[in-house]
Amino acid sequence: MDIRVVAGDVTAFAGDGLVLNLFEGVGAPAKAVQGGRVRGAKPLGGATAAVDAALGGAIADLIRAGEATGKWGEQTLLHALGRLSAKRVLVMGLGKPEELTLDRVRVVAAEAARALRKVGARRIATIVHGAGVGGLNPAQATQALVEGTLLGLYRFTRYKANNDHNAPRTIERLTIVERDRKRLHAMTEAVRRGRILAEAATTARDLVNEPGNTLTPTELARRAQAMARAARVRCEVLGPRELRRLGAGALLGVARGSQEPPRLIVLTYRGRRSGPHLGMVGKGVTFDSGGISIKPAENMEAMKGDMAGAAATIAATCAIARLVLPVRVTAVVPATENLPSGSALKPGDVLRALSGTTIEVINTDAEGRLILADALAFARKRQVTHLVDAATLTGACVVALGTVNSGAFTNDQAWLETVLAAGRASGERIWPMPMDVEYDELIKSDIAEIKNTGGRKGGAVTAAKFLQHFVGETPWVHLDIAGTSESDKEKGYHAKGATGVMARTFVLLAMEMLAK
Ligand code: BES
Ligand code: MN
Ligand code: ZN
Repeated sequence: MDIRVVAGDVTAFAGDGLVLNLFEGVGAPAKAVQGGRVRGAKPLGGATAAVDAALGGAIADLIRAGEATGKWGEQTLLHALGRLSAKRVLVMGLGKPEELTLDRVRVVAAEAARALRKVGARRIATIVHGAGVGGLNPAQATQALVEGTLLGLYRFTRYKANNDHNAPRTIERLTIVERDRKRLHAMTEAVRRGRILAEAATTARDLVNEPGNTLTPTELARRAQAMARAARVRCEVLGPRELRRLGAGALLGVARGSQEPPRLIVLTYRGRRSGPHLGMVGKGVTFDSGGISIKPAENMEAMKGDMAGAAATIAATCAIARLVLPVRVTAVVPATENLPSGSALKPGDVLRALSGTTIEVINTDAEGRLILADALAFARKRQVTHLVDAATLTGACVVALGTVNSGAFTNDQAWLETVLAAGRASGERIWPMPMDVEYDELIKSDIAEIKNTGGRKGGAVTAAKFLQHFVGETPWVHLDIAGTSESDKEKGYHAKGATGVMARTFVLLAMEMLAK
């Protein structure tokens, strides 16, 4: 999609649809006070007022009739009937001015773009929500607007027929109209950043939505290689032979049940010679059947998305490089299938991880922590100063936090604060979880150093406790995204299916590290 920023008057825009907004209570007839006098009505302002005038007061009419109230989530579509060069005007309710946030700008941009696409608009224009009366920083609001638009319009159509009957409607151009010419430079730069951030999330979504028969560990590595090349990131791919040499017994153990060979994908970006070195690790199980501890058939198809952490990690690393951020990044993705077979890992087996730690396998469906153990240890050997991992790790985390928040687990409060700040900036919600020493007891093994499950109680925490064995003293945050990696419906800037969660947060995390 072509996105441009122009200085000028919205009423002059020629195209299929023009997006405006309305705050709650603005332009409304104030309640008649005693004596019949009308007081306190806030008049329409800015672009909405200008377009209302061009439309002969049509917006004000709707407000008076109570049809347009400016409530959050409201959409009012008007046809301009030749009174403007734009065919239609879409007035988006912004809610109360004090409740407007950058994340609301993403949502409103997404919903407006989708609504106009639905009616067949190809060229649309918008003002930047919140940059006027809303009091948001104009560049930040522009960036959020671009992110929201691109994320909201995202669809995964790779396996849909594209013929005359089923030609998807698409928006070809977004024109962002700003009155103040002095803001243009900063806003144009914000468009570039917003696009790179959104594309990080949409490429992550593409990987997660891709079925397991095409996105094998080998194919995931190939895609990572292609993306890395385009972003000028170094990419190494280790196969079974190299993994044996490294002693990556946990990853190799999980991979044993599958005909598809495992891969360890390592991306490195050197935006600087020294200073902080971010280690990002993402779970890359391209299909999780549970293995010998097989899962029930219902919803098992969703387990093609068990590589959402990997997708976020790969996409974020490439975005960081495209933004030329002055940081060092090493991303490590252990990729494998988890399947049952005659050669599969069995409950009771003992594995020796890359770190040398021995692990008793109680449940082969707790495979994510096994492969992450090797990946975290590998990242440490590359001398990262900070670690973060994203993994669709536990159903228990979905029970605890639902689909709203990802769970965060840490060994370092200051580093956690940095990750939380990145989450606030991206709008991706993250909730801190406990890590008391008492949980450690649950994963002690009788015959090895640790076991891979701690029973049902506190399942998300014991999974994190398991990972903690492999991070040593390195500041580390584990993000359990089992509940947030997919959305069961189209909502806000999410499409149904993969969300691309943590792709944008990880890019912003690199920026937060620089700000320190
Ligand atoms: N990939 C699953 C976790 C998962 C569940 C992701 C739901 C997305 C949605 C993970 O490998 C798994 O199977 N975890 C087990 C662990 C248990 C055996 C200790 C679980 O959560 O049931
Ligand atoms: Mn599993
Ligand atoms: Zn899994």
